[in-house]
Amino acid sequence: MTRQPTSRWLRRPHDGSGTALAYGADYNPEQWPREVWEEDVRLMRQAGVTIVSLAIFSWARIQPDEDDWDFAWLDEAIDLLHANGVAVNLATATASPPPWLAAAHPQILPVTREGQTLWPGGRQHWRPTSPIFRRHALRLVTALAERYGEHPALAAWHVSNELGCHNVYDYSDDAARAFRVWLRERYGTLATLNHVWGTAFWSQHYSGWDQILPPRLAASYPNPTQQLDFKRFSSDALRDHLRAEREVLRRLTPQVPVTTNFMVMGEIKAMDYASWAQDVDFISNDHYVVPGPQSFDELSFSANLTGNIASGRPWYLMEHSTSAVNWQPVNVPKGPGELMRDSLTHLAHGADAICFFQWRQSAAGAEKYHSAMLPHAGADSEVFRSVVDLGRTLEDLAAVAGTVRKPAKVAVLFDWQSWWASEQDSHPSSLLRYRLEALDWYSALLALGVRADVVPVGGELDRYDLVVAPILHVVPAELADALTAYAEGGGHLVTTYFSGIVDEHDHAWLGGYPGALRELLGIRIEEFAPLFAGQSVELDNGTTGTVWTDRVDVIDPSVKVLVSYAAGEQAGRPAVTRRPVGAGSAAYISTRLGAAGLEPVLLELLTAAGVAPELPPAVAGQVELAVRTGEGQEFWFLINRTAEQVEVPDVPGEVLNRRSAAETAGGGLLLQPRGVAVVRRPAET
Ligand code: GLA
Repeated sequence: MTRQPTSRWLRRPHDGSGTALAYGADYNPEQWPREVWEEDVRLMRQAGVTIVSLAIFSWARIQPDEDDWDFAWLDEAIDLLHANGVAVNLATATASPPPWLAAAHPQILPVTREGQTLWPGGRQHWRPTSPIFRRHALRLVTALAERYGEHPALAAWHVSNELGCHNVYDYSDDAARAFRVWLRERYGTLATLNHVWGTAFWSQHYSGWDQILPPRLAASYPNPTQQLDFKRFSSDALRDHLRAEREVLRRLTPQVPVTTNFMVMGEIKAMDYASWAQDVDFISNDHYVVPGPQSFDELSFSANLTGNIASGRPWYLMEHSTSAVNWQPVNVPKGPGELMRDSLTHLAHGADAICFFQWRQSAAGAEKYHSAMLPHAGADSEVFRSVVDLGRTLEDLAAVAGTVRKPAKVAVLFDWQSWWASEQDSHPSSLLRYRLEALDWYSALLALGVRADVVPVGGELDRYDLVVAPILHVVPAELADALTAYAEGGGHLVTTYFSGIVDEHDHAWLGGYPGALRELLGIRIEEFAPLFAGQSVELDNGTTGTVWTDRVDVIDPSVKVLVSYAAGEQAGRPAVTRRPVGAGSAAYISTRLGAAGLEPVLLELLTAAGVAPELPPAVAGQVELAVRTGEGQEFWFLINRTAEQVEVPDVPGEVLNRRSAAETAGGGLLLQPRGVAVVRRPAET
């Protein structure tokens, strides 16, 4: 067999037939009798499935005991899939250790901050820093790589599963040892660590490395920099595990790309995925919708951020749901059109593989009420018909495969360091929510019909006309310089309350807030003035602030006050300011305005930055636009955000998915409720 060159995308195991966009699910054949597998592959063919993720939770089945291996069933499953034209994204099966391993080595079990052991019985009960676990996991990875590395069905390796979903924060003795090693590498000397952690406070000075612990349950607030460093360390420890498995795979099967499924979604915040991006051959993500007023905006936000973590290149949606999940307090099914719309929104933001958890809904186990492509009701079901419809639609959209995201003119910066640090304890307010503030800005941009990129902080800013930096709390000196240079170079920056406050060590910048951004913004704040839950304050443009206010003083006469407080303790003081900086500007919003309240301010800032919506004003807010581009073509995804029909006038081009999502009428496009039209047009020059 000839080896194929390493690819940055799925290895094409077949002859190029079938759709160029991958389509499929997690597949768990070990939960079913052998005869069911035949029906599985028949229905997979009917649905247009091209790829499955296999063996994710199969460790106990593959290795029933330390020196007992059983590959026969997996050989058979892979061969059957291959014979039916289905490629395999083969998991390394290390996500859930088998009972024999935990029984023989209870030292692999994670320990909570309170000192409680997390016992087997669920999944992911392993310490990221356990040498024993690592040794056994790599032995399994080696066995799988040696056995299947040359199999023609193998399209990619899927390391573990959702690293850190349940075990990211481990406070065990293994974690303590590894934390010390990480700290020594970072700080070199104890003197530096003592300075950085501010241990002069509360008699915390360390005189030996062995005295340092993870921030276990303490009598009072643990040291904030210790907490922040432990968050950094914990993200890095999981990344080290990813690297360790990847090294085995690269050594034994250099021709096969390696990925792992991130969880860029909702409030999952412990893994700094921007710092993991270079450690996989392509980015994969899992996303689940949590119902709520901004749930669809959140999906778009997460897909957008994932696409930008992937630097605009195609990525793999490894899991989402066809309908209800099982892990919310109340699990409601998706409404008509949502399966298609959610899937095509991920595609719009750069996904070239659209996959679900899972293929066949389990009959037993904790996830038996979680939806799947093939539900308990069987193939004669609305869900399965929708699944087949999506498969056909992805075939219609094959031309989109391999194209990249078209950059927008507006960026929303996203920063895990600021997310972690701004929400720590013992702060001015425990009500501040980093990701909700960022999402509000994104929702406001969607409402105004303006396309934006959600980008990890630290990337190139100059390509953007407007940069939104919500709660950019951690601002090292270099970042302050970069933001200043951006504005001086003609860029328009807007930031919010609790931004610029601390450096990378979580030490406050002195001289008045917003610390590192004070000069750039031309304002000074002596005291924060957060609001109680339920409290709000009126502004003189008719909007309302919640959560936070500041006592803002203008220190640069060129600063223009755009909005002032109309009532409350800050009445008459500036609420929103903007300072001209060279050809650009730097604006500050001192309160939480919410998505609707941000719109008038944002409109003014967009106008100043010269950014106009690309869609006709009639549909702004109702329709999201996302654009992919490649080989002289653009693909405009027009996503109906509403549950009503929407007519979009004047979008010339060829509608690729006419059959399933959109109809033309009178020269425009009629989008079905929650419908998505994909329009092919020549690329703008
Ligand atoms: C995660 C896991 C899957 C499954 C789903 C259920 O994404 O990776 O194994 O548990 O959640 O939503």
